Amino acid sequence: MMTTNLDEAARAIVTGGKGILAADETVRTLSKRLSARSIESTEDSRRDYREMFFSTPDIGAFIGGVIMQDETIRQKSSTGMPLVELVNAQGVIPGIKVDDGAKPMAGAPGEYITEGLDGLRGRLKEYYGLGARFAKWRAVIVIGDGLPTRRCVVANAHALARYAALCQEQGFVPIVEPEVLMNGAHSIDRCEEVTGDVLQAVFAALFEHRISLEGILLKPNMVVAGRECSVKPSVDAVAQATLRTLARHVPAVVPAIVFLSGGQDHVLATEHLNAINALPEPKPWKLSFSYGRALQDEALEIWHGKKENVVAGQRAFYHRAKCDSAAALGKYQRTMETSATEATIH
Ligand code: 13P
Repeated sequence: MMTTNLDEAARAIVTGGKGILAADETVRTLSKRLSARSIESTEDSRRDYREMFFSTPDIGAFIGGVIMQDETIRQKSSTGMPLVELVNAQGVIPGIKVDDGAKPMAGAPGEYITEGLDGLRGRLKEYYGLGARFAKWRAVIVIGDGLPTRRCVVANAHALARYAALCQEQGFVPIVEPEVLMNGAHSIDRCEEVTGDVLQAVFAALFEHRISLEGILLKPNMVVAGRECSVKPSVDAVAQATLRTLARHVPAVVPAIVFLSGGQDHVLATEHLNAINALPEPKPWKLSFSYGRALQDEALEIWHGKKENVVAGQRAFYHRAKCDSAAALGKYQRTMETSATEATIH
């Protein structure tokens, strides 16, 4: 039965401490990141950048899935191999971002609704043919004065459920990503309250739309304070608030929760994940990572658009993925960072 296949596929992505590389920045977002470092953004430079990550030797030890986006999934490597095949050859499962981005929501000033449901069934069929086996849809929730509104939370939860239903119909594991943004000066307590409300609404909608929860992956934010909040919670406080919120709102049959990094410093994102996994409380789901910036930023700095820096960039990515994978097992130690400079790829 399809449901069983999806359960297995969902578990395979996160088996043995593996996580996901989110490499699905749109052309616009990636171009911004490249030009911020004076790297020209072209079809080829974006391909070279992605190829650096996908071809990192032995990365399949720590990464079980890669999220691509429309341009990347159609591209070939510099040696002419489709990037999807390159990813498959590493033992990594290719996935695809299928939403059309968060757009300002009518009647909800300062809030966003993610678009992209129209024609999604057809796009999924095409992506399946191109080799993708899981998908991603990101909803964005803003904390602010009087925000989020209930209508924004409910509309985004509904869209996530309709997306997830189409994914499962077409044989994809849906990554369900409701992201409560770190932007703002809100406290960790406020983040906990909003994250709980959002998760509750999301699972109500998933239930309403008859989603098989065994065949999804949840990609939430961690419960953290806003970036501009003057009180910085400890790693332990973040871990406790995050696990408490998930335990209250996420059904136990969900196979795995793969956090986004959301703009956290890369080492802190590792430490938080490790601390969550090290807590003694019951954890019915695997707790792993689906990081974008936290996995890529060091390698991007090192690479700087230059061929001669690819191996050094890969070394940085390999190291970060290794640390995050250790954190997904609760076995990360800060001393792993000091050995980074001597790290070799094999
Ligand atoms: P970050 O880890 O950079 O937040 O990206 C993850 C992601 O896929 C956001 O949609």
